[in-house]
Amino acid sequence: MFGNNSSDIGIDLGTCNTLVYIHGKGIVLNEPSVVAVERGTKRVVAVGTDAKRMLWKTPGNIIAIRPMRDGVIADLESTEKMIRFFISKVLPRYRFVKPRMVIGIPSCITEVERRAVEECAYKAGAREVIVIEESLAAAIGADISIFEPMGHMICDIGGGTTEISVISLGGMVVTNAIRLGGDEFDEAIIKQVRSVHNLIIGEQTAERLKIEIGNAAPDKTIEKVEIKGTDAITGLPRRLEIDSVEVREALKDPITQIIDEIKATLGKTPPELAADIVERGIVMTGGGSLLKGLPKLVSKETGVPVIVAESPLNCVALGAGKYFEYAKNFDNSRQIYDTLNN
Ligand SMILES: Nc1ncnc2c1ncn2[C@@H]1O[C@H](COP(=O)(O)OP(=O)(O)OP(=O)(O)O)[C@@H](O)[C@H]1O
Ligand SMILES: [Mg+2]
Repeated sequence: MFGNNSSDIGIDLGTCNTLVYIHGKGIVLNEPSVVAVERGTKRVVAVGTDAKRMLWKTPGNIIAIRPMRDGVIADLESTEKMIRFFISKVLPRYRFVKPRMVIGIPSCITEVERRAVEECAYKAGAREVIVIEESLAAAIGADISIFEPMGHMICDIGGGTTEISVISLGGMVVTNAIRLGGDEFDEAIIKQVRSVHNLIIGEQTAERLKIEIGNAAPDKTIEKVEIKGTDAITGLPRRLEIDSVEVREALKDPITQIIDEIKATLGKTPPELAADIVERGIVMTGGGSLLKGLPKLVSKETGVPVIVAESPLNCVALGAGKYFEYAKNFDNSRQIYDTLNN
């Protein structure tokens, strides 16, 4: 029905990571969404993992940028180059067999931004582009039976966005997306270290603190990590030991905002679907769901069980890649909707 699907690819164009899934092969690429360009000429010198190594450590004439910020395209030109580079890496012959691409994007992006993503994909060599909401892709990727008449809540905490949706009959009944995610967790840590210890640290150090000792709820053991940064007063490099209690304190604000958003989404959910969710639980995906203690805290605060998907970082790419397998069901569910609404 859809012709040769060996060139169907699913892309999770994330603020932090870009993943590519190829039909029949699985996830074939997983690299940071970073591009290193030459200042002035804007010539791309590295993309992905190689470019990330350069982030914050580049020589004067090279700048490493993250073309996606807060889940949207902040730099169209480098985003396009990044997509093109990644695709040519995994499909070296893509110029001959143009792929069909399904791209997962945050639902909070504007129509203009949405079109920008499509445009990027066409320019990068796609023959057909379908853009779907990250929540829907995440739900398919988390193996949720989205087409049954049953409410499912999915909460994807990425680097730049958090998206909470209730899905039933293949459609999103309620969705709340905020431009807040793991990047804000890192920023909160940077702020805290600066204000309490007068130490300036970089994003990568903050992220390491978050992943190694970050936590959302009190733990029995207090963990410690040594970090290095620049003293804000003397300008000299300095070491400092940070413990998990302090990191938790720093993360309190963004975590509270996410939990408030989940509660608000539950509040907007029709009662019958809410009953399903209480029964089945909230499914969490995205890198943010890996923060220690967060699923437990969400469950405690909402009174609803929480399940973290099997590979939370891969769900959107998996779901986007499997989209075509489900395409027929989407047509059917649209018909059901049309029948119900006419
Ligand atoms: N073990 C961990 N604990 C806490 N945070 C983590 C962990 N592993 C990854 N993260 C964070 O998850 C975020 C990346 O998640 P993900 O790859 O889902 O985001 P993304 O899809 O690129 O972003 P978005 O969906 O917002 O566009 C980063 O902020 C990263 O620091
Ligand atoms: Mg994501």
